[in-house]
Amino acid sequence: MNEQKAVIVTGAGGNLGSAVVRELAAGGAKLVCMNRSSQELEALAGELPASTEFLSIAGTDLTDYGSCAAAVARADKRFGGVSALINTVGGFQMGAVGPDAPSQWDTMMSANARTALTISAAVLPTMKAAGYGRIIHVAAAPGLKAGANQAAYAASKAAVIRLTEAIAAENREHRITANCILPGTIDTPENRAAMPNAKTDGWVSPQSIARLIAFLISPAAAVVTGAAIPATGRE
Ligand SMILES: NC(=O)c1ccc[n+]([C@@H]2O[C@H](COP(=O)([O-])OP(=O)(O)OC[C@H]3O[C@@H](n4cnc5c(N)ncnc54)[C@H](OP(=O)(O)O)[C@@H]3O)[C@@H](O)[C@H]2O)c1
Repeated sequence: MNEQKAVIVTGAGGNLGSAVVRELAAGGAKLVCMNRSSQELEALAGELPASTEFLSIAGTDLTDYGSCAAAVARADKRFGGVSALINTVGGFQMGAVGPDAPSQWDTMMSANARTALTISAAVLPTMKAAGYGRIIHVAAAPGLKAGANQAAYAASKAAVIRLTEAIAAENREHRITANCILPGTIDTPENRAAMPNAKTDGWVSPQSIARLIAFLISPAAAVVTGAAIPATGRE
């Protein structure tokens, strides 16, 4: 990681986003935590080591380019640049290809694909100016092959994978890498509530994905780019 610059974590108040923030804060990163709600950011800030340098930006709508660009400008101003973007924003809906599918398609494309595109477009200029950057998106296994009732979700996560590949190809000469993670079922309170009878021992903890992300933004991962990396193994 370029120690002088900041790491942006979007969806910082979410399950994975907050785990990423905790992991990187423990490693001494300078953090820009973006979230729609300020309450979650305040709670998260209270958990971080006192020495953590971080900027909380509430109210960023990742579907909106102006909102993303304004947030990146604040990060730039505070830390003099952005070395990494970790975008954990996303949503999940299931449904068959039927009357509700067109509206669900738009919702999933917006929540998963447009958000990833928009925050990437907003952060790339500062990374290009520095000649360095790391971009991590979170896709999902259905982005490789859809099952029943997954058309919109799977297509939107496939779009994240293709977007990641395009960013990697366009920015190799700028020493900017772009990779995405394909997590298995993440062990979250929401998943436990939605699947009370599920066997959870094969689920993936947010912390384990956060550690993978910390590796991918480290100098050791400089040559990994354009990858869709499964995070489905056992700890
Ligand atoms: N959970 C799983 O089992 C699983 C499996 C595979 C992949 N994934 C992917 O992993 C990522 C993280 O999942 P998670 O379980 O940590 O989700 P989460 O807890 O629901 O967090 C997602 C975050 O995204 C934010 N968000 C949604 N739309 C936004 C927008 N337009 N602008 C700004 N923020 C927005 C949400 O903010 P609000 O709270 O304000 O809505 C929330 O903070 C997602 O991309 C998800 O699709 C999850």
